[in-house]
Amino acid sequence: MIGQTVSHYRILEILGEGGMGVVYLAEDTHLARRVALKFLTSSDHQYRARFLREARAVSALSHPNIAAVFDYGETADQQPYIVMELVKGKTLSKLLREGGLTLAQAVEFTAAVAEALSEAHREGIVHRDIKPSNVIVTERGKVKVLDFGLVKQLLEEPSRSSDPEARTLYAVHTRSDVIVGTPLYLSPEQASGKPVDGRSDLFSLGALLYECIAGQSAFSGSSVLEIGAQVIHEHLDLDIFPDENGLAGAPADYEHGAISGGPTGCRQR
Ligand SMILES: Nc1ncnc2c1ncn2[C@@H]1O[C@H](COP(=O)(O)OP(=O)(O)O)[C@@H](O)[C@H]1O
Ligand SMILES: [Mg+2]
Repeated sequence: MIGQTVSHYRILEILGEGGMGVVYLAEDTHLARRVALKFLTSSDHQYRARFLREARAVSALSHPNIAAVFDYGETADQQPYIVMELVKGKTLSKLLREGGLTLAQAVEFTAAVAEALSEAHREGIVHRDIKPSNVIVTERGKVKVLDFGLVKQLLEEPSRSSDPEARTLYAVHTRSDVIVGTPLYLSPEQASGKPVDGRSDLFSLGALLYECIAGQSAFSGSSVLEIGAQVIHEHLDLDIFPDENGLAGAPADYEHGAISGGPTGCRQR
């Protein structure tokens, strides 16, 4: 792909690769600016139609914490792609790997993601895949959320299935049975294949905040099923949080919100 031109986008280098496709750095030769170009691997008809519908909806979102969608297209061999704002910085997953965040950063970044979600939910768009690799923190400390509505919607079951386990798996598998992304931030309703709304994003946000503070993911397990079962049935381990002294300086309502409003709290909503 590198060196090729698709429409008026010249592909320069690879930015990253996720479960659904590859993201490239590209130059928009009309406007002479750099953009991110995301290709999707599937060329399934229904999938493309949904992807286009969602890309249209997301392109209407305009918010400082949401990476903008500029364009949509398909290559000559009908591979769909989306053109996004290029966000320079580090993903939250990288920042977490590099040694974690301060409590103040954890709160600040999560609050910025919440702002983005609030705007999207107001417009009727559910993100469906809030996770650390979909959040980029720029060099100036600004937070941008990527991939609104673009991924998980495509994975929801095409028709009703009576087997709850089959539905669970559908949410995290592609048709070729390859696991797409991680189930670590899925809400119980996503993990069990039920319809989702904005509350599902808040569950994932709670899992994200947990990880930002604790330095380890809220749920764990060695398989998709094990993690899914934990998300649905288990209570969170809150003992790993620092004691009151460790959280000194955090506003009292934050401390309460982080722990009881996190995934465990959400589950009881
Ligand atoms: N708009 C963007 N600007 C800069 N980097 C991006 C952008 N979109 C995606 N990336 C990079 O590409 C990687 C792969 O993205 P993606 O295919 O969505 O997979 P995932 O979200 O599972 O990591 C991301 O982790 C990120 O590092
Ligand atoms: Mg992504």
